[in-house]
Amino acid sequence: MKAIQYKDYGSSEVIEQVEVPVPSIQNGHDVLILVKAAGVNPIDIKIRMGFMKAARPVELPFIPGGEAAGIIVSIGDAVTTFKVGDEVIALTKTNGYAEYVTASEDFVLPKPQGLSFVEAASIGVNIGTAQSVLFKAGKLEKGQKLLIQGGGGAAGGAMVQMAKATGAYVIATASGKGVELAKSLGADEVIDYKLEDVTALVKDVDLVADTAGGEAQAKLFKVLRSGGTLLSIVIPPSQELAAQYHIKAGFVASNISAQTLENGISLIKAGTFKPVVSKIFKLGEAAQAQDFLTAGGINGKVILTVD
Ligand SMILES: NC(=O)c1ccc[n+]([C@@H]2O[C@H](COP(=O)([O-])OP(=O)(O)OC[C@H]3O[C@@H](n4cnc5c(N)ncnc54)[C@H](OP(=O)(O)O)[C@@H]3O)[C@@H](O)[C@H]2O)c1
Repeated sequence: MKAIQYKDYGSSEVIEQVEVPVPSIQNGHDVLILVKAAGVNPIDIKIRMGFMKAARPVELPFIPGGEAAGIIVSIGDAVTTFKVGDEVIALTKTNGYAEYVTASEDFVLPKPQGLSFVEAASIGVNIGTAQSVLFKAGKLEKGQKLLIQGGGGAAGGAMVQMAKATGAYVIATASGKGVELAKSLGADEVIDYKLEDVTALVKDVDLVADTAGGEAQAKLFKVLRSGGTLLSIVIPPSQELAAQYHIKAGFVASNISAQTLENGISLIKAGTFKPVVSKIFKLGEAAQAQDFLTAGGINGKVILTVD
């Protein structure tokens, strides 16, 4: 089968398309999926650049790809939830940039009716991350005031929609076309962070969800109420600043499984969550797709399609 692999760490020049054997089912609970579309995530690029050697070590050559959508072509002996021919989303962690991928049934879910394979490949990481940040770690409740840093991005856009669905008051930061996107996804207020200073405009927020990190994250301690919470999916926030501003702050590693996607999938079925796809590339264009994501200013998910 065709697959995309990293032959080394480095720039997108280390990406190559290769022929490798179709993976075999190793565990009774695994399914084998014919991939129709695969999501491209920032972590794929961080792994390629060698930034994740401590936190997410991989062996080279390495096939990236944490999420895919496709059709089940074979199942392990112990699989009870799925059958051959089912159209599914797979939360693969790795190996998604390929014609076939295996996944354990706990990390597979039926593709919601009405979603294309491209849309289905775009939602797993975003919804799972939003669920982990907003509800598991952030305990977000109806009526609370939330600021989402990067509300026009892939994970941030999912957070906007899921927070609105729960009845929170949502303020998002974004820039360029992301401003309109975050508004269209339901944000009550959107601040263009390139034109305005968020700290001058926002105060007494219960929860900050940061998808940008760096200096942009450090500023946001000021917008929280005393006792509020700052959560980041990019880098651990400063505990010194947390103590200074009397808030709780932490890094969230998302927990992405069929179970943690349940809330988001129910919103999709109810028509209150819409997948946002930014650009579609072919599998063989994986290097261009990653470079497109690296360039920034992306609003929504970058997807690879497999013919
Ligand atoms: N911890 C986890 O489990 C987990 C899970 C998923 C993702 N992540 C990480 O989260 C980050 C975002 O992922 P993503 O897929 O959502 O990427 P993305 O679609 O590129 O979104 C990033 C967002 O950050 C915004 N941004 C960049 N600089 C900013 C600044 N100075 N101030 C405010 N906003 C700024 C961007 O807005 P503009 O485009 O307008 O600049 C964009 O909307 C990545 O680092 C990724 O690796 C972590």
